[in-house]
Amino acid sequence: MLQSKISGKAYHDATKHSYLSVQLDPNYVDASTQPAAFKAYPKFYRRVKLDVNNPIHSFIWLTSAITLEKMYKNGSEKLRVNPSAGALYPTELYVQVRGIQGIVDGIYHLEVENNCLTLIYELIDDGLESYIIPGKSIKGCIFLISCVYYRSSWKYQDRSIRYCLLDSGHHLGAIAASAYLHDTAIQLIFDFDKFALNRDLGFENKELTTACVISGEAQEKQIRRLRLKVPFVCGTDYFEANQFIEEAYQITSVQKSHQQKIEQPIFNFDKDKFYQTVWNRRSSRRFRKQYISWEDYLYILQQLEQPIPTDSFEEIEIYSIVHRIEGISPGLYKSTHLVKAGDFSEKIGYLCVNQAIARDGAVALFFVSNYTSYQTAMQLAGFLGHRVYLGSNYLGIQCSAIGAFYDDETQRFLETTKDVLYATTIGI
Ligand SMILES: Cc1cc2nc3c(=O)[nH]c(=O)nc-3n(C[C@H](O)[C@H](O)[C@H](O)COP(=O)(O)O)c2cc1C
Repeated sequence: MLQSKISGKAYHDATKHSYLSVQLDPNYVDASTQPAAFKAYPKFYRRVKLDVNNPIHSFIWLTSAITLEKMYKNGSEKLRVNPSAGALYPTELYVQVRGIQGIVDGIYHLEVENNCLTLIYELIDDGLESYIIPGKSIKGCIFLISCVYYRSSWKYQDRSIRYCLLDSGHHLGAIAASAYLHDTAIQLIFDFDKFALNRDLGFENKELTTACVISGEAQEKQIRRLRLKVPFVCGTDYFEANQFIEEAYQITSVQKSHQQKIEQPIFNFDKDKFYQTVWNRRSSRRFRKQYISWEDYLYILQQLEQPIPTDSFEEIEIYSIVHRIEGISPGLYKSTHLVKAGDFSEKIGYLCVNQAIARDGAVALFFVSNYTSYQTAMQLAGFLGHRVYLGSNYLGIQCSAIGAFYDDETQRFLETTKDVLYATTIGI
């Protein structure tokens, strides 16, 4: 147990930023060498065009949809419902459909760019259940998230192990939001036979499964492992292996989280307004240093306190650095308890690698943890980060994720011994 705990931490420690490390290696890349951000299976696979008027299609589509296309001189950038570090989108989504009228039972790859499902495997008496929840058969959908890690390591090198996992957490958050809008209960699963799935789905060392979501009825039934291996199709147009990431993934995949009883969250969003929020979610690039109300801030914190529907438990603590909330002393807070008073806006801007959004927002939130499973903890941090985006955007408050911070200095500032996993900033 101790050994596995140390291993996860070792990978986090090895990817820390410091003032010096960022000066020495500022992550500059030649944008023209960016690997492809969309995976497509060969043309001969059967495809189902998603029809947004069909509720199940719409549920699947909204988990990953492109919501804005930014045009540039040398091309365009397609932004999605889920945020992604550097807009590199390492995550892919697969959906197993079983027993849904009008859709052939099978495993599909969601081709985000073309709004279609590509049938990569037809089910008989086999399926994903045997790797994920042995002894059960799911009538409904099983979503599987994987990371085509080179899309991120191309730019962020070893630190991209963090971004892949955080991005996966956001993708889970986007699935949860779509499920909520389609009145569907879900369960997130982090502990499953990832190595066997990577092998049988033909991912080789290039695509790494990180999490699953079950949405459907579980029946007691033995389902066989996939009777055929899915052929390898590369998620990028070219690939460079990163030994550190592959090893970090291997070691941290076998760390299991503690178990907890699954509880469903209860949200009271106005569905039409929430749909618009999901559709219009964006990362703020600049704040006008305006104040937000205490009520709005508490509302956002309350969304974070709602249960996460999974039986994997990792405690994530939240520190807030309040710069601009009406009627509240600026300072460092643990939850709503004041740890130290002061205007730390300049300090937080510096700690987040001199990013003005961390200085000029109303509040910066940091997620810290003493995790058992690194993969689960990072994904839960990303999942909570997604709730911060949607909760704040719902109120008309802007938000941005922050994955870049000076780790040790931030940890000292927060006066915690726990690892700092992630940050977000909100404001107007
Ligand atoms: C894990 C993660 C880390 C991020 N880190 C930063 C950051 O340090 N600074 C920043 O300005 N944006 C950061 N972002 C926001 C991305 O730049 C943004 O999601 C991406 O450009 C896509 O834009 P959108 O969120 O508006 O769709 C991060 C996003 C994620 C998911």
